[in-house]
Amino acid sequence: MSPALVVTIGSAVTEDVAALQSIARQCGLNVDFPAELARSYASVLVARGPDLLGFLLAWRAADEVHLIDLGVREASRRHGIGRSLLAALLREATVNAARVVLLEVRASNGPALALYAALGFTELDRRPRYYADTGEDAVVMQLTLR
Ligand SMILES: CC(C)(COP(=O)(O)OP(=O)(O)OC[C@H]1O[C@@H](n2cnc3c(N)ncnc32)[C@H](O)[C@@H]1OP(=O)(O)O)[C@@H](O)C(=O)NCCC(=O)NCCS
Repeated sequence: MSPALVVTIGSAVTEDVAALQSIARQCGLNVDFPAELARSYASVLVARGPDLLGFLLAWRAADEVHLIDLGVREASRRHGIGRSLLAALLREATVNAARVVLLEVRASNGPALALYAALGFTELDRRPRYYADTGEDAVVMQLTLR
């Protein structure tokens, strides 16, 4: 049996940028991490185990939190890392008295849809042909905290 993967969740620092960019590329996500780390309203959470294994980017706007991107290294998926990152965001949002967490996800992204549903997100709306590269719909999901 392989040993359990010990992962800690924390905030990203400037030294993480190269590893973050590598994960984002692997996930097909385009994120300007130096810019995000400089934004007062952005949270960049990372999973370390001991290498950087995943990240989550969210923005705060009034009493809403918007999940912008979430990615886990391909080789480390299905070990609960995405769930841990999202759970940390929900704890942070609760501490900050946020009312709702919102996100958009490609209608074809089964793993992400399953993860969000497992954490209690429900479908709020659909944006037809939202993604210009594939023409697919965006599913808008929400989780009300209070
Ligand atoms: C979506 C993503 C972040 C999930 O990360 P992960 O660390 O593998 O997810 P977890 O191991 O925490 O999974 C938690 C739950 O989500 C669901 N889930 C995750 N991946 C799944 C898959 N491939 N198929 C079905 N359900 C899945 C399951 O309910 C899972 O619980 P379980 O393992 O006990 O069954 C990861 O697949 C990823 O990085 N994808 C590419 C980038 C991406 O699509 N990001 C989302 C943009 S909106």
